[in-house]
Amino acid sequence: MIVDCHAHIEDEAFGEGVAAVMERAREAGVEIVINPGYDVRSSLIAAENAATHRGLYAMAGIHPHDAAGVGDDELEEISKILSMPRVVGIGEIGLDYYRDFSPRDEQVRVFRAQLELAKASGCPVQIHSRDANLETFNILKEYAQDLPAIVLHCYSGSAEMAADLIKLGFFISLGGPVTYRNARKPVEVARDVPLDRLLVETDSPYLPPSPHRGERNEPAYVVEVVRKIADIKGVPVEEVAQATSMNAMEVFSISPEG
Ligand code: NI
Repeated sequence: MIVDCHAHIEDEAFGEGVAAVMERAREAGVEIVINPGYDVRSSLIAAENAATHRGLYAMAGIHPHDAAGVGDDELEEISKILSMPRVVGIGEIGLDYYRDFSPRDEQVRVFRAQLELAKASGCPVQIHSRDANLETFNILKEYAQDLPAIVLHCYSGSAEMAADLIKLGFFISLGGPVTYRNARKPVEVARDVPLDRLLVETDSPYLPPSPHRGERNEPAYVVEVVRKIADIKGVPVEEVAQATSMNAMEVFSISPEG
């Protein structure tokens, strides 16, 4: 079995409905899917879907793109969603200095506020970082001792940086980019990071793995990520599937029954 630890299947790109997406995932051996939010609305939809679909879990969080102007009301809403059944943590949160859709000081403010919320509620977090690794990781280091787990979603940093972050107890999640023909850094990360620190994801509907590039991504395709990591490490596919699933279930306190 495989766990896709990061898929936005509440997205309108999945017009056929969550049940169909989950059914295709199960047929591909992907028994568990975790759907993070990026604002209050998406977090709430993800939580409502998780409550009614076997194998589906949700996370609540405000993405750095949506950080501008977020106040106590929104953070309170996120906190409420966090207490709903099958909501397993806070995500996706972090910093994005590539697009800069929100002012950077706002991104940092909302990121820190949600890390404080995670600390207060004792829940794991999923982190988005783009062109902001140093600042993201410096902030996270302050929380390394205080949070049950920190997962770096679609990790894009170097293998050296990954080694440092693992020492702090962080988990690394890899997605479609590791399968791309010109991939270099994610391949080195897949090679060097031990299996007990790796998770896999699709980031659906974005970042489809090879050979699905150009298509809408979906959780069933996470199989390609698992295959590629197994190939890079020279271990059986089942070993990668099992290790990454166990890590995800442990980090997010999910039972194997889904
Ligand atoms: Ni995402």
